[in-house]
Amino acid sequence: MPKIILHADGTTIEQEVKDNANLVVLAATRLLPKLKYGCGMGRCTKCTCIVVNGAESLSPPNWKEEKMLGDKVNEGYRLTCQLTIKDDIEISQENISIQAPKKQSAIQS
Ligand code: FES
Repeated sequence: MPKIILHADGTTIEQEVKDNANLVVLAATRLLPKLKYGCGMGRCTKCTCIVVNGAESLSPPNWKEEKMLGDKVNEGYRLTCQLTIKDDIEISQENISIQAPKKQSAIQS
């Protein structure tokens, strides 16, 4: 079983998780209570983390992450709700302030 190390809220949590686990789902079931998240669908950026170790085991950022995080995806930032955990990983949500891009109106005059 993969192990997650999470730095959040001034604490560090180590937790074994099932293969292919989604960490936001685990947070919702209180297995990772310190993990910050919101929509769970790649729309709010509240779950943004930086990958400290283990990025190579993750799939590349998807279009939602690229849209919401922009160039930050090239600096190791990911949307936790979009990650599937297959191997040990260390992530941090300390000192991260990413704002979701403003929606553009579809109606133009
Ligand atoms: S929980 Fe909203 S983007 Fe991940």
